[in-house]
Amino acid sequence: MKTQVAIVGAGPAGLLLGHLLRAEGIDCVVVERQTGDYVLTRIRAGVLERITVELMERLGLDARLKAEGLVEEGFNLADGERLIRIDVANLTGKTVVVYGQTEITRDLMDAAAPRGLQVIYEAGDVALHGIESDAPFLTYTQGGATQRIDARFIIGCDGFHGPSRKAIPGLNGNFGVAREFERVYPFGWLGILADVPPCHHELIYANHERGFALASMRSHTRSRYYIDVPLTERIEDWSDDRIWDELAVRLGPEAAANITRGPSIEKSIAPLRSYVFEPMRHGSLLLCGDAAHIVPPTGAKGLNLAASDVHYAAEALVGFFRRGDKEGICGYSAKALARVWKSERFSWSLTKLMHRFPEDGPFERKMQVAELDYIASSTAARTAIAENYVGLPV
Ligand code: APR
Ligand code: PHB
Repeated sequence: MKTQVAIVGAGPAGLLLGHLLRAEGIDCVVVERQTGDYVLTRIRAGVLERITVELMERLGLDARLKAEGLVEEGFNLADGERLIRIDVANLTGKTVVVYGQTEITRDLMDAAAPRGLQVIYEAGDVALHGIESDAPFLTYTQGGATQRIDARFIIGCDGFHGPSRKAIPGLNGNFGVAREFERVYPFGWLGILADVPPCHHELIYANHERGFALASMRSHTRSRYYIDVPLTERIEDWSDDRIWDELAVRLGPEAAANITRGPSIEKSIAPLRSYVFEPMRHGSLLLCGDAAHIVPPTGAKGLNLAASDVHYAAEALVGFFRRGDKEGICGYSAKALARVWKSERFSWSLTKLMHRFPEDGPFERKMQVAELDYIASSTAARTAIAENYVGLPV
């Protein structure tokens, strides 16, 4: 097969990019290892920045998002005693939308066939070739046969475990072009999804003596909660009741009074890491989303960074195919990384503020409590948090 752009991965980044390119008349194909149903089983975060909403609006795929998304004008930090409200709407003039990532992926998937976006599912052993040339190609296996897709560009939207990042010459010192930066956190997030009304109409991030908790939601009748747990914990040791009890303590009395308990429809423990791979382009290969960077979910940046990467990549590719302009392609990595690093910083700093680290002593706890107290008393401090939370300008 020959195409202009071959996209590896049909998660939110790959599908969003595929639709944007199709809408501009650029020939592309998406190649995905799993089945569509499997991709939709992934439970992920659900806070959308403006850029993500705007891309769905631009594609005319925002109907359900508008109907079911919850517009949030603020969120709360809690220190175990009180709620500190960050009034995002008044401090920044912007809002965020709570709408599950799975729903974004579903909207993009449902629109693929009607809009002629070709997505090849169950493609095995995807491999990238000739990425340093102007004629790269993908190979993959399906039904026992090896297939080949020739393209002018390959876009790696294949997440943290995909092959694209690894196709860029190694990290072996000065011979490789790649550099990676990583921080692995000494805890994981235990998440629970339940068909119960949220305890509060806005998100609550709590730093309690016993640890972190987050109260979020998917709708007025479906809640999503998290607590941080040591990496040694196993989900089998966490009954629903034990999770509800811990949430009630950590979220503080005001929120706990409104928690509605119910059976979990999903619960799991996920590790947290900060990770950035540079560069995000090498030759004819561009990386978008989790293929290039990972953030701890504290700042709800993962999906939104994938969206801004895709926005920059689509702009660069349209410039190249429409006007023969290589500037966008050459400048893609620096432009995307500028926003990636600022989101990495915000996610890392909010994680540090809101979690108990094993190596921390009473002094570090005092620093966290003092910072929360400062935020509670300073419009400037709350504005700084708010403008990062709604998403820095693209
Ligand atoms: N071949 C083809 N597809 C692959 C391969 C492979 N070898 N490896 C992975 N994939 C697919 C995965 O099956 C997945 O569907 O690439 C897709 C990557 O999607 P995501 O991991 O969701 O990454 P991305 O689209 O960048 O979205 C980022 O997802 O992980 C969350 O928190 C993250 O919210 C953020 C969002
Ligand atoms: C979620 O609703 O799953 C969620 C919300 C905000 C976060 C992380 C996860 O920061």
